[in-house]
Amino acid sequence: MIGKDVELSGVSMIYPNGFTAVQPTDLTIRAGEFFSILGPSGCGKTTILRMISGFLNPSSGAIAIGGEPMIGIGPNHRPTALIFQSLALFPLMSVCENVAFGLEARGVAKAERRRKAEELLGLVALSGQEDKKPGELSGGQRQRVAVARALAVEPAVLLLDEPLSALDLKLRQHMRAELKAIQRKTQVTFIYITHDQGEALAMSDRVAVMNEGRIDQVATADALYNNPETPFAATFVGEQNVFSGKVVRSENGEAQVETPHGPMVGINLHRLNVGDEALVMVRPERIGIVDRGGAPAASNQLQAQLDRRDLEGALINLYLRSGSQGIHVNLHNRGEEMLALADTMTLAFRHQDAVVMRPGSMARDKA
Ligand SMILES: Nc1ncnc2c1ncn2[C@@H]1O[C@H](COP(=O)(O)OP(=O)(O)OP(=O)(O)O)[C@@H](O)[C@H]1O
Ligand SMILES: [Mg+2]
Repeated sequence: MIGKDVELSGVSMIYPNGFTAVQPTDLTIRAGEFFSILGPSGCGKTTILRMISGFLNPSSGAIAIGGEPMIGIGPNHRPTALIFQSLALFPLMSVCENVAFGLEARGVAKAERRRKAEELLGLVALSGQEDKKPGELSGGQRQRVAVARALAVEPAVLLLDEPLSALDLKLRQHMRAELKAIQRKTQVTFIYITHDQGEALAMSDRVAVMNEGRIDQVATADALYNNPETPFAATFVGEQNVFSGKVVRSENGEAQVETPHGPMVGINLHRLNVGDEALVMVRPERIGIVDRGGAPAASNQLQAQLDRRDLEGALINLYLRSGSQGIHVNLHNRGEEMLALADTMTLAFRHQDAVVMRPGSMARDKA
């Protein structure tokens, strides 16, 4: 098996009721890449996948797979296979028959079907389970049967629509590693849809963050976490403390923002000018305690009251308040930290750990 690239040029979807589910989108997914589309419920992920698979025609734009235009080519004639949000194995068929199902429709002889199914079951680490019924397997094993069944038709591109959402957390985490290994072995292009950031970050070569029908940012997991480019990407992936204010100084790639909590200086990502409204974003693990009680002295310092502290083993989560603003600080547990916390503390962060952005929509509640 070998993967192909997928290219979307100006692809949009306006449903017959007039609702725009996907804004005009340009996106190139490379051959053999594990690519995830990450975004909240309703942002248009499944719609994009259905357009790539051919079950839905774009309202505008063009899709090419391996350089070939897909206009007018139905789902059965595309080099793609789809694993649905709620997978459905045939309960009365054996595991082997389930995997071989697509091959029968393609006129492959019985003995060859069996051989092929056994090979694929080996690939997903289910050798010896051929004659069981799906009901006799665990959730994770059933999921792997679904992957084997999709791979049976030798797709160049495998489209996976939240395939792990029905599984419990432990199994989901285990299956991440399994899926990644299968993708590496087959070199098939995987396009993986999820609203779970942990899943996307753990498995993907690159991730597209999607919000309200638009792709905000495409980047590696590292880049997405460390260098988010929009307020949505910054708040949907990982946690952020967000302070709002106005730019009062802009120089050397940094902006100083006047906030209700004092002046804050950070990287001027969107090249804002003096007078512009701005958001200052700081990750919980980039904030430290400089003084357990004293008053703030300089920029990027603020005084906050401790509401709650949660011990999470290696980490301590502090939930503080400065006026009406909640602040989350994440400390390494070095033993003395829990004992020495005061009710009022001065917090601080470095300029390079704060990003100044133009205000925009942010992630509200993450699933
Ligand atoms: N047939 C349709 N007609 C009109 N609107 C639709 C149709 N199908 C989906 N939508 C709307 O388009 C938007 C995108 O739907 P889509 O299924 O692509 O979301 P999603 O990102 O996959 O969400 P989820 O994570 O919940 O599966 C939603 O607001 C949805 O209500
Ligand atoms: Mg969906």
